[in-house]
Amino acid sequence: MALLQDHSLRSYNTFGIAVSARHFAAIDQLEDLSALQQLSEYQTMKKLVLGGGSNILFTENFEGLVLKVGLKGKTVVEEDDHKVVLKVGAGENWHEVVQYAVERGWGGIENLSLIPGNIGAAPIQNIGAYGIELKEVFQELEAVNLETRERLKFKKSDCRFGYRDSIFKRELKGKTLITSVTLVLNKQPAFKTSYGAIEKELQAMGVQELSIRAISEAVINIRQSKLPDPKEIGNAGSFFKNPVIPTTQFEALKQTFPEIVGYPAAAGTTKVAAGWLIEKAGWKGKTFDQYGVHKRQALVLVNYGEANGKAIYDLSTEVLRSIQAQFGIELEREVNIL
Ligand code: EPU
Repeated sequence: MALLQDHSLRSYNTFGIAVSARHFAAIDQLEDLSALQQLSEYQTMKKLVLGGGSNILFTENFEGLVLKVGLKGKTVVEEDDHKVVLKVGAGENWHEVVQYAVERGWGGIENLSLIPGNIGAAPIQNIGAYGIELKEVFQELEAVNLETRERLKFKKSDCRFGYRDSIFKRELKGKTLITSVTLVLNKQPAFKTSYGAIEKELQAMGVQELSIRAISEAVINIRQSKLPDPKEIGNAGSFFKNPVIPTTQFEALKQTFPEIVGYPAAAGTTKVAAGWLIEKAGWKGKTFDQYGVHKRQALVLVNYGEANGKAIYDLSTEVLRSIQAQFGIELEREVNIL
């Protein structure tokens, strides 16, 4: 295990922000973490666990220790005619895990194709897309308490999953390092194509017989047509969450904005498409020198090259203010700000 100093984080965050970490260590096996924890300075260092860096915006250098998780491995821990229980090292790339499952005909995560990042981060924000959330296939995860070094196991109910939310974003924020995630995949998959864009894309592809692979390909096509590829344009996916508001407020807004987009959520509430609000407020495609609001999906803020994280953060504040002023809705950031 090497402890590096003043290490650039540019290639470790999909926004491509050029900041550095005071200390940096790659955790490729659990022993790397144990070795680090033996160091006397470990306890006092501020720590940041980094997976694929796909849901983070750095606004300044990180003056602590970055733990870059690279723990690998895929193990089938249980299998019968109906299901496969797959345990995956936290440092495996999410989309590669999806492809691994798709190739074997194991269903459940095909709708989550092409989401950037590593599997260790997937439970933190309960990743979701096209009608599916991680929690639907999640069995358990293993983690290490960064302070006490205790090895921990979290079952589904322990994770308190919500929309882009879990205990790891709240009470346990910054306190654990997730080492593996175990999923239950289905050998007789129940296809979920009810999300309008998927149905349309499957038709456009001329798919006659539905399959896990066809759905995965449809999702890949949709994502590629709307969302910027972080390898080309720095971004962290949706920068904001879709706000959930009282349905009475939604109905009132509908009087003024008949085309507003919303979906029924928990009793008496409606989840509003933040992308629609941001587009309506005139932000879509707005560019300020090196950064801006993506031209095909207004929920996504982008770095065209050399943007500074603070400038992107300030832009997000402007967006929040304008949505509040125009619609009386308080948007929340989805991306972690550091
Ligand atoms: N819309 C607009 N303008 C825009 C963007 C969206 O009017 O610029 C409208 C669309 O017309 C559509 C509705 O908003 O009617 C929904 O758009 P979309 O299907 O693109 O989904 P979303 O609600 O904007 C969410 C997730 C995405 C996920 C998609 C598909 C959040 C914060 N975002 O976006 O997740 O891929 O649904 O399921 O929930 C991510 O988390 O990084 C992410 C990309």
